[in-house]
Amino acid sequence: MRFKPLLPAYLLTNIRLNPNSKLSHFPFMATQSQPLSSQAPTDDGVNNEDDTLCSCDVRTSFSEAEAADLGRPNGYLTGEARIERAWAHWNKLGRPKLVVAPMVDNSELPFRMLCRKYGAEAAYTPMLHSRIFTETEKYRSQEFTTCEEDRPLFVQFCANDPDVLLEAARRVEPYCDYVDINFGCPQRIARRGYYGAFLMDNLPLVKSLVEKLSKNLNVPVSCKIRIFPDLQETINYAKMLEDAGCALLAVHGRTRDEKDGKKIRANWKAIKAVKNAVKIPVLANGNIRHIEDVWECLEETGCDGVLSAESLLENPALFAGYITGEWVEERCKEGELDQAELLVEYLKMCEKYPVPWRMIRSHVHKLLGEWFRIHPSVREDFNAQSKLTFEFLYDMVNRLRELGVKMPLRVMGVNRNGLSANGASA
Ligand SMILES: Cc1cc2nc3c(=O)[nH]c(=O)nc-3n(C[C@H](O)[C@H](O)[C@H](O)COP(=O)(O)O)c2cc1C
Repeated sequence: MRFKPLLPAYLLTNIRLNPNSKLSHFPFMATQSQPLSSQAPTDDGVNNEDDTLCSCDVRTSFSEAEAADLGRPNGYLTGEARIERAWAHWNKLGRPKLVVAPMVDNSELPFRMLCRKYGAEAAYTPMLHSRIFTETEKYRSQEFTTCEEDRPLFVQFCANDPDVLLEAARRVEPYCDYVDINFGCPQRIARRGYYGAFLMDNLPLVKSLVEKLSKNLNVPVSCKIRIFPDLQETINYAKMLEDAGCALLAVHGRTRDEKDGKKIRANWKAIKAVKNAVKIPVLANGNIRHIEDVWECLEETGCDGVLSAESLLENPALFAGYITGEWVEERCKEGELDQAELLVEYLKMCEKYPVPWRMIRSHVHKLLGEWFRIHPSVREDFNAQSKLTFEFLYDMVNRLRELGVKMPLRVMGVNRNGLSANGASA
């Protein structure tokens, strides 16, 4: 079996986020325990086929010319005026409740569009590295693509230098509704690069990053955070972010040390306490496996929306009421949607909105994990492909169908938001 790196070759070397900081190496290495990719990288790939785009027919990334036409800062408001503006913006976007969480290599444009088709009301890009984004054209054009229908959109950056962050943010602000700062990544690479949840040890720096954007951008700034073990510390943190100009807060209800989301339940009580302590919109993150969890979470936390990550990877139709797991005959119509069908829809999106093959590879594993467990030879064949093609992937789905695998998603019916099971508004 041949494992291919899921990260671009140029990110597999040590790169410094902040050249002035000795702490700030950015070795974008993923291991199997990290959520950044599903497979361990190898060191073989300078010309890695998985880093090439799956098609170059359609232009979906922004151009330098467009990026140069940047908006002007719209004035720094304080106190209540800023809170009012935060809510006016949220209302203007239609108060999206069902949101695709940021996921490196996984919340890319075609996946976002698939989730939107099935009920997602807003989405985050994967985390983008602010310094590399400002310096590397190839990184910008491969890692950030969007289209007109891809709204509302949060573009997320990691950063530890306010000036670099602002430069990166200015390039994307015409194409998004929030520029988001990642203060939640707990992985080793974030420790080495000195960003994400490791900035919880340096709150003055966190404050300066948020202030820099909120004073200079036209679009609002949002932040995605983890909680501290101590509730009061979490609340103080959230209030500090709000005072610094954060217009929307996404709270992942786990601490920096609680890395395994499948084993450790997110703390909705802490999220509720944050929601009660701040005045800006708050999104809850953690423990969302299906649509019933969404309504429970909104009720329990009082939050304005939820983010879902891992469960959406297995089931991009989650927000439309579909659910993976045990088949319950009486609740499921014959011929309903399944993960192979969702994969085919995703592949069609990729033909329209090209992405590096490594992202497609990752989604195939997440969507067909259960199918591969029944037919491991199909997985082995897939893993053996050093160069993927759409033809191979469509044939693979047909092969699984011919092998007689049937695993329809269950439908939870019309949900409390008035959405029907296919994501259309009722
Ligand atoms: C594959 C993967 C990649 C992720 N990448 C990011 C990221 O780029 N930025 C970020 O803030 N969080 C990232 N996360 C964390 C998720 O956004 C989310 O906070 C976490 O998975 C908890 O949500 P869940 O319980 O719904 O999975 C990632 C998670 C996964 C599974």
